[in-house]
Amino acid sequence: MENKTILLGSRPHGTPTIENFEFTQTDLSPLQEEEVLLKALYVSVDPYMRGRMSDAKSYVAPYEVGKPIMGGVVAEVIDSKNEKLQKGTVVVGNLPWQQYIVHHGKGLNSIDPNMSPLSYHLGILGMPGLTAYFGLLHIGQPKEGETVVVSGAAGAVGTVVGQIAKLKGCRVVGIAGSDDKINFLKNDLGFDEGINYKTTSNIKEAVAAACPDGVDVYFDNVGGEISDAVIFSLNKFARIAICGQISFYNNTSPATGLRVEPILLKKSAMMKGFIVSDYAEEFGKAARELASWVKEGKLQYQETVKEGFDQIPEAFLGLFSGENTGKQLVKVAEREY
Ligand SMILES: NC(=O)c1ccc[n+]([C@@H]2O[C@H](COP(=O)([O-])OP(=O)(O)OC[C@H]3O[C@@H](n4cnc5c(N)ncnc54)[C@H](OP(=O)(O)O)[C@@H]3O)[C@@H](O)[C@H]2O)c1
Repeated sequence: MENKTILLGSRPHGTPTIENFEFTQTDLSPLQEEEVLLKALYVSVDPYMRGRMSDAKSYVAPYEVGKPIMGGVVAEVIDSKNEKLQKGTVVVGNLPWQQYIVHHGKGLNSIDPNMSPLSYHLGILGMPGLTAYFGLLHIGQPKEGETVVVSGAAGAVGTVVGQIAKLKGCRVVGIAGSDDKINFLKNDLGFDEGINYKTTSNIKEAVAAACPDGVDVYFDNVGGEISDAVIFSLNKFARIAICGQISFYNNTSPATGLRVEPILLKKSAMMKGFIVSDYAEEFGKAARELASWVKEGKLQYQETVKEGFDQIPEAFLGLFSGENTGKQLVKVAEREY
């Protein structure tokens, strides 16, 4: 049976390239007691994986050169020696980029295929949705009538942040990298304003114009010059949730920029970084609330799906050139059962 695996072939210097990934064939051993055979259905590609491709110490261990890339995968149990994971069960877990996987059966979460499309568990009902939920509601603490700005607005996290902020009665301004994305945010997701940072000559003025009452909450997915510009429009007691800094992920030297401290001081503003796993104990409740908002049609969901296992590296690289709108996924196979 063909069973491709994608390994980290080499560590990138700067922007990753296709050469940093290596395809190999993996043989499958016969199942032992408690083990299951998984067939990958959907693979998630996420910006944080760029950090793991480097050997710098971070909140998750680096990938090892010559070892499989790991990440969020939705898979189907197609053979089983584990009573709790029968054939046909669909699971989500942290799994290798591999078509078929012999797995020990621990740490997999079963998902109900009748509740929502399977891919949602890697997006709006999975890690990115939870990230939006906790970063906005716990750190941003948006109140009715306030202005919320989100950067990386048209991506997996940003699209959910803006919509939850709308549910909370806020004015929402999204910053993203194309006119199509801005139109999507305004026309399909109900954002009040959008700024295309790639075509706007003065982003600081554009933010000020889009936020006539100032900025109460800034949800930062990108960092860098975009964030510097937003910070000049902060209101007194503003809250900044530092979720991601994708504009730096491919830097080869430390980024420099605005000194934010005097501004935060004068505005009595709060800036806080977070990792979604900080809120792990509350995941269940949040996932249920997200699911009910999706079911009630209060949250729209967008994904960009590439087809075929071989497309995984390209899909990942596309995150850094803004090819995705909403959650970027790769559909690897159909369900068997
Ligand atoms: N703290 C946490 O626990 C946590 C969890 C999940 C994600 N994150 C972070 O949240 C951010 C968004 O993640 P996501 O999964 O939702 O990804 P995403 O937004 O779906 O995809 C990445 C997007 O970033 C934008 N981008 C790429 N390079 C950029 C640059 N140099 N400057 C500005 N924008 C750039 C692109 O959109 P444009 O077309 O708009 O440029 C691209 O579509 C990432 O920084 C990620 O690391 C953090």
